Amino acid sequence: MKNSHELSLRRAEESVLKIKDDVKNAPSRQSYHFMPPAYWMNDPNGVIFFEGKYHLFYQFHPYAPVWGPMHWGHAVSSDLLHWEHLPIALAPSETYDTDERGGCFSGSAVYENGILSLMYTGAVRVNGEYVQTQCLAQSKDAVHFEKYEGNPVVKKPDWVDSTDFRDPKVFKHDDVWYMLVGAKDKDKGKALLYRSYDLKSWEFFSVLAESRGELGFMWECPDFFEINGKYVLFISPMGVSDRKTVYLIGDMNFNTGKFNYHSIGEIDWGFDYYAPQTLLNDKDQRIVVAWANEWDWMPWFNGFGPTNKDNWCGSLALPRTVELVRDSRLKFKPIDQLKDLRTLAREYSKSLVTQKNSLEIQAGDNIHCELKIIIDLAKTTSDIIEIVLRASEKYQTVITCNLKTGEIYFDRNNSDGISTGIRRCPLLLVNKNELMVHIYMDTCSVEVFTDDYITVLSSNIYPPNDSNKIFVKAVNGDAAIKSIHTWGLKSVW
Ligand code: FRU
Repeated sequence: MKNSHELSLRRAEESVLKIKDDVKNAPSRQSYHFMPPAYWMNDPNGVIFFEGKYHLFYQFHPYAPVWGPMHWGHAVSSDLLHWEHLPIALAPSETYDTDERGGCFSGSAVYENGILSLMYTGAVRVNGEYVQTQCLAQSKDAVHFEKYEGNPVVKKPDWVDSTDFRDPKVFKHDDVWYMLVGAKDKDKGKALLYRSYDLKSWEFFSVLAESRGELGFMWECPDFFEINGKYVLFISPMGVSDRKTVYLIGDMNFNTGKFNYHSIGEIDWGFDYYAPQTLLNDKDQRIVVAWANEWDWMPWFNGFGPTNKDNWCGSLALPRTVELVRDSRLKFKPIDQLKDLRTLAREYSKSLVTQKNSLEIQAGDNIHCELKIIIDLAKTTSDIIEIVLRASEKYQTVITCNLKTGEIYFDRNNSDGISTGIRRCPLLLVNKNELMVHIYMDTCSVEVFTDDYITVLSSNIYPPNDSNKIFVKAVNGDAAIKSIHTWGLKSVW
């Protein structure tokens, strides 16, 4: 058993080794977002901070830039930006996790007494039926993992669909281990809670929370944490049309195993942000990371992007700190360490952008950069403010702030000849004198933060390098710029 895992890991490492230098120099690669050394990645898994380092595991297919039998890639960092790739942590090798359409699916990590434990979903087909079970792998050096001989440690209850029982999130409360598992019960998504004293023997405790139809048929990748006395559940629900990463805020009762939520919000409204997972660091900061791409079952899906021609596909969105506001909303701020990447700072003074005269701005090389725009709403007469990114004669990506309807749009219909669609969400303008829009751009991603970081839209675009102009435009009146700060952002690789 140990041998077959080692063999399968070695084969995967050899595959990556052959191509990783090409990917390192690929023109399409991200410059400061995490991406795999080569080939395919999706969800972040087992994100954790211990002994001064952040560990990131992720869904990894080390043989091609498309989804395939899932491995767990592994990387380590001391600032969440500069990553060192470590040996692959998990590879399919056992009857419960080896299948062309399965493998070692998503999960989480916990660290105690010098042992790093990974809990993951073994996904296989048995007699044509999908079977998903929860499995344990442990390590004493945080690099080499041994699968537990008693795997799987949790099998689904009878009433759960066999295809959909996955993505265990383990956490400790009052000396008891808990594991939350995403599940489908007929047409309702649920988060099931299990208890254990040793991570090996588990008992079913409760349905922590469930969809009553309004929150989809399957909850992927649940995450659950305490923040300022409240509890927060993250889910990536399937089947809720427009929504795909949802947070619920409420109170947890550990006697009944029930989470009663009273507030609900969207973690990110963009096209490309899925399966968010959080960790707590030594500064007590809750930090969220997520896969920056979209699944083929999402209504707006139009491919995973053209980067597979350079032998990679998938990256992570920027790590963000999570803060609770008035017990009912969350803020997602790009981590402070990003300021260390800033270069070529520029400042644009107060000015008026008119319908006739748009403002062209420069931010580093205009491709790997950051912009913070503040609009004085009291002095603004226009209905619409457009921030036009990666523009040329042929292409443009438009962020539209509609002050009349109170909405923000991310329009990538003309971004690159490949991407399509518009994402739309509320812009919170009540009692506001200023509109702040903070944007991060990398080779093929744009992340837009507004409403004091309550609203975020993250999406991928693939324009050519000469599509690199940036404008601020006003429609139907004038836009009063209070300030614009821009920076280039240095590469981390
Ligand atoms: C979410 C997901 C998980 C699953 C993994 C498979 O993106 O579908 O539910 O464990 O990806 O790679």
